[in-house]
Amino acid sequence: MAKHDLDPNYLDPNYEPVVNHSGNTSFASVLTARMQRRTLMKGSVGAALVSVMGMSLVGCSDSDDDDDNGTTSGNAQADTELGFKAVAVSSENRVTVPEGYSSVTFVPWGTPITGSYPEYRADGTNTGADQEQQVGMHHDGVHFFPIDQKAGGNSSTEGLLVMNHEYINQSALHANGPTKAVDNGGVRPADEVRKEIAAHGVSVIHIKQDSEGKWDVVFGSPYNRRITGGTPMDIRGPVRGYSKLVTPYSLSATETRGTLNNCAMGPTPWGTYLAAEENWHGYFTTSAAERPREYVRHGVGSSSRYDWELADSGLDQYVRFNVTPMDGGSAETDYRNEANTFGYMVEIDPFAPESKPQKRTALGRFGHEGVIFAPAKEGKPVVCYSGDDSRFEYIYKFVSAQAYNASTANGSLLEDGTLYVARFNEDGTGDWLALSLDEAEFAAKVAAAEGNEVGRSGILFDGFENQADVLVNTRLAADIAGATTMDRPEWGAVDPNTGAVYFTLTNNSNRTEEQTNAANPIVENRTGHIIRWSEQGNDHAATSFDWDIFVFAGEQGTETVVDDEVIVSLTDDNIFSSPDGLWFDYNGRLWIQTDNGYKKETFGNDMMLAANPETREIKRFFVGPQGCEVTGVVSTPDVKTMFVNIQHPAGNWPNAAEDRPRDATVIVTKDDGGVVGA
Ligand code: FEO
Ligand code: CA
Ligand code: CA
Ligand code: CA
Repeated sequence: MAKHDLDPNYLDPNYEPVVNHSGNTSFASVLTARMQRRTLMKGSVGAALVSVMGMSLVGCSDSDDDDDNGTTSGNAQADTELGFKAVAVSSENRVTVPEGYSSVTFVPWGTPITGSYPEYRADGTNTGADQEQQVGMHHDGVHFFPIDQKAGGNSSTEGLLVMNHEYINQSALHANGPTKAVDNGGVRPADEVRKEIAAHGVSVIHIKQDSEGKWDVVFGSPYNRRITGGTPMDIRGPVRGYSKLVTPYSLSATETRGTLNNCAMGPTPWGTYLAAEENWHGYFTTSAAERPREYVRHGVGSSSRYDWELADSGLDQYVRFNVTPMDGGSAETDYRNEANTFGYMVEIDPFAPESKPQKRTALGRFGHEGVIFAPAKEGKPVVCYSGDDSRFEYIYKFVSAQAYNASTANGSLLEDGTLYVARFNEDGTGDWLALSLDEAEFAAKVAAAEGNEVGRSGILFDGFENQADVLVNTRLAADIAGATTMDRPEWGAVDPNTGAVYFTLTNNSNRTEEQTNAANPIVENRTGHIIRWSEQGNDHAATSFDWDIFVFAGEQGTETVVDDEVIVSLTDDNIFSSPDGLWFDYNGRLWIQTDNGYKKETFGNDMMLAANPETREIKRFFVGPQGCEVTGVVSTPDVKTMFVNIQHPAGNWPNAAEDRPRDATVIVTKDDGGVVGA
């Protein structure tokens, strides 16, 4: 533990701790050698059908055409050409979209959606109770559930817009900024803390298009809902009941309160929403000299980002953010274990407003950026992928133990299964390494690691008590398994036409020459890249795959070379840096969003580009306002209304008449009513 170089800089909202100093797969590899590799993903666009979440979608090359859920739509062809004129980089404080497109802001932070519908006050004087009934801050991952989805429909004019609120801008949230404990006798006003916790979490917003095409919130809808950093939740899966999650709130280790730092998300094949818990470590504080490995490996340290534990009311729901073991206390009397109840994927059923969110521990505990499900197939396991967005962390895959059946599928499929972590081999193959004590290979590695320091984290490994312990310490388990350290895995996406899985690797300025590997070949990778793979036999449950790099981000002239051929050379139309959000629309266009802090004079404001996965043509489609990141994108099933989230804008966007910024969704449509991107 002593070697852990804890960085206390939790006040930086984009802070990503470097807590994995594992030397896993630190091959010295040569960039050109990797780029000589054959092109992968030549999947043809075929006549078979794929459907996602019960909606009828587009053509798929998968030959299993007998077992897709949902209805069929004939021999649809993929439509992946980019039919718009690229927009230029921009540093203006506005949204830019291509000629022939329009954009309008929607559901900004503070929009009332439930309860007494408290009006947004532009002077920041809304209370904590108001915020619990209003849209939260820092919009991130977003999904549109057609209102008739449960009945097999695919409405593109009415649905539930569900989105994450990753974190907050304290200065904008309060009338005069936050009251800091250091200036206030060591405490923070409890209502400020209440408001901050309420500005986090998830919003479920029932929205509907009127006859003119304008979208509005459905006032009084029973579906409208706020889930916050304080909402009661169940712990589910193998970690439920485990001693390391015992708290005074739940002596049985079966419940906790709230979800925090929800970055990206994933809709499940059965119509629910999984919210990721990413940089949750920064909300807790401990003054213990010796911290448990569950905290060390994540950077839970001595300063909490917002000092919620110092709320002057001293109420239990705030005190819990101090995870220091108290003198003479125990897990049943103090909150030493509270942070072990965070770091999971949280399932929310937007169609059941009374339902309690479920933390799905079988998917592992780490800095979940998001999750992406492979298309579900009758009689096959459910498979989903999740990246751990910190430098040198890993990409994971969950394969359910039970088979999928469209008529009965629900969250119980996520109760039991195998969690794997990815190893990207030098030769373009890859392996999924099971993190299960029931698997001989992993059990042998665990046995061999006992008594040793694991990786460079300096954690003296003294074994796992059981599979719950493995999952609570997922990162440590992945270190032991020998996974490939990645350049900050952010969002993933599955190509509906080929089944290929894409992940953004946003950047990693800390990677040294000795730490490069074939899949992460750039020393001091400041602009990032996008990796992709095809599972063996196009079976998402397979334990091996073939991978390739789809594109290297960067400035003009940055090349992606395959078999000596320059496949992509970036130009004014498509330079980008730090890819983050990633989404395949229902036709098969790939949407790439950026969260870039590098060379803003070159790359301008953050942006969204569209890519044709077949040809690797990439064009810039959207540029956000100043200071923001563009994160979160989804469309209606007909791909004629696109929802794009703007997080942490600066200045006074979107309302020039107001003096504080508001995170918001931007609705993009084509003026002729056509398909966005076509
Ligand atoms: Fe929304 Fe990895 O950040
Ligand atoms: Ca971020
Ligand atoms: Ca992100
Ligand atoms: Ca990011």
